[in-house]
Amino acid sequence: MDTNIIKAAKDIVQAKKIAAITGAGISVESGIPPFRGKGGLWESFDPMEYAHIDAFMNHPEKVWDVLLKGMKDIMDRAKPNDAHFGLAQLEKWGYLQTVITQNVDGLHQAAGNTDVIEFHGTFAINYCMDCQKKYTMSEITLDQIPPKCTCGGIIRPDCVFFGEQIPHENIMRSFEIAQTCDIMLVIGTSAIVHPAAIIPDSAHQSGATVIEINPEFTPLTDRVSNYILKGPAGQMMRQLIAEIKTIRE
Ligand code: OAD
Repeated sequence: MDTNIIKAAKDIVQAKKIAAITGAGISVESGIPPFRGKGGLWESFDPMEYAHIDAFMNHPEKVWDVLLKGMKDIMDRAKPNDAHFGLAQLEKWGYLQTVITQNVDGLHQAAGNTDVIEFHGTFAINYCMDCQKKYTMSEITLDQIPPKCTCGGIIRPDCVFFGEQIPHENIMRSFEIAQTCDIMLVIGTSAIVHPAAIIPDSAHQSGATVIEINPEFTPLTDRVSNYILKGPAGQMMRQLIAEIKTIRE
């Protein structure tokens, strides 16, 4: 076994306050493609053409048809994997308090985590841009594109497009948590989209141990992370949970 897994298990059982920040990589083993890297969405789509708020406002039918419809199909079917379940187990044991996620897929809540900050919003909720009426994603049929509200307004997902502000509350809480945790787990993020990318820096500067889980090195590795569990999140988390169980017995 990777000696860093044994080290992480020991660090986790001794910590008082743990937070996790997750990105698209944690959901790869659930069948959801990441944004960057091999098979990433931004390999096929220009984010400025499909994921910028101006693109959505100018051509909502195009963004729904090309990007959002496909994401809805994949997310409607996706189930949490062992990495999500591992974080839920860490919460049940009382080690982990909060998950800050850049993901919009709702899989942390589906796995059982109860305090999840959806930093970039959620794809589970949509709302009418005219009357603000809310719709769950399952209530939306894509018989007409873009989907329309009963009032005739265009419906959009409640996630943050490029060019939009991150909700203030998400920023305040996330940095407050980063500054007060003993350990921050950084799982499946390329750590290049700001301001989420600097949340681990903030934890590091405040004295937390930063543990990365990622099959690749990132801009955080060595500079901010104390060490990395180098591999797919589900696989690494299965081993980590097994090791913690052994320590607890
Ligand atoms: P990225 O797609 O940028 O990065 C995915 C990361 O996951 C990479 O570091 C991969 O090495 C890693 N990875 C791949 N497979 C993995 C696996 N099985 N287990 C663990 N890690 C794996 O995703 P994010 O960092 O989440 O923003 O991207 C940040 C933001 O950029 C997203 O929230 C989205 C996007 O544009 C908005 O939509 C506003």
